[in-house]
Amino acid sequence: MTSGSEPNATDHPSNPGSAFQSGETKILIEQGYDKIAPAYLAWSAPRTTTTRMSYLNKLMTFLPPSAHVLELGCGAGVPCTQSLISHGMNVTGVDISAAQIALAHEHVPEATLIQADMMSLSFQPSTFDAVVAFYSIFHLPQEEQGKMIGRIQGWLKEGGWLLCNFHTDRGDNWRENWFSPGVTMFSSGLGVHGNRVMFMQDGYGLTVVEDQVAVEKVGRAEETFHWILAVKREKVEDNLHPFDRE
Ligand SMILES: C[S@@+](CC[C@H](N)C(=O)[O-])C[C@H]1O[C@@H](n2cnc3c(N)ncnc32)[C@H](O)[C@@H]1O
Repeated sequence: MTSGSEPNATDHPSNPGSAFQSGETKILIEQGYDKIAPAYLAWSAPRTTTTRMSYLNKLMTFLPPSAHVLELGCGAGVPCTQSLISHGMNVTGVDISAAQIALAHEHVPEATLIQADMMSLSFQPSTFDAVVAFYSIFHLPQEEQGKMIGRIQGWLKEGGWLLCNFHTDRGDNWRENWFSPGVTMFSSGLGVHGNRVMFMQDGYGLTVVEDQVAVEKVGRAEETFHWILAVKREKVEDNLHPFDRE
C-alpha cells in the first residue's frame, strides 16, 4: 500500500474507534482488497518501482535454482510473483483477499496460491530458501509485525533470505474511500528505528545485510519505505546487525 497518491483516498486522522480490534481490521482489509483488486492492479502495474524490482533481482542471484520462495501478500502476482516464476522459482503465494488470489491464479498459474491471513500460516521449520513480502506486512497491526518476523525466521532454511519493506512513519494509518467509495484501508508502522528494534528483538536469527530508507517515485508522487534484506545465519558473531557494530 502506498500512502499518498492513490485516487480518491482521504486520510483518517486516527483509529476510527477502539472497537476495531485485529480481527475486525483484518476483515476490513480482506473486504477492501476484494473490492478494489482489479482497480489496484490497473493502478499499480504501470507504476512498478525500481527499488522493489532491483531488490528482487538481487535476491534471485543469491538463490539456488528452483528455490522455494514464500511470498506474503502476493496480491495479483504482478510483477513480483511473475518474475520469481519466470526465473524458475517454486513460489507459494499467500494473500488474505480471495479476489487478489483469483487474479494471481490468472497471472501465475504455476504458483501454489493460498488465501489466508499470513498470521494464520503454519509451515515446517526450514521450509523456504526465501520469504518476500512487498508492501504487505504493514497491513498487520504493530504488535503482529514482530511476531511475523519471528515466524518467518523459523520457516527459513539456514542461509535463507528475507526481503520485505515497511512504513517509515510510526503509527496507524486509516484511509477512507481507498480506490473505491466505502473502502477503508488500514496499515501501520513502527518507524525506522522501531523496525530496527523489531528485527533485533524478533528476528534474532536473522542478519540484516541491507537496511535502506528509499524514496520511490510512484507515478508523479514520491513515497518512502524502509527496505530490509536479511539472511538467516547460524554463527552468533554473524547475528550482529550492521547498526550494532557502529
Ligand atoms: C499493497 S498490496 C501489495 C501487493 C503485492 N505484494 C505488490 O507488491 O503489488 C498488499 C497485499 O497484501 C495483502 N494482505 C494484507 N493483509 C494481509 C494479511 N494479513 N495476510 C495476507 N495478505 C495480506 C492484501 O490483500 C494485498 O493484496
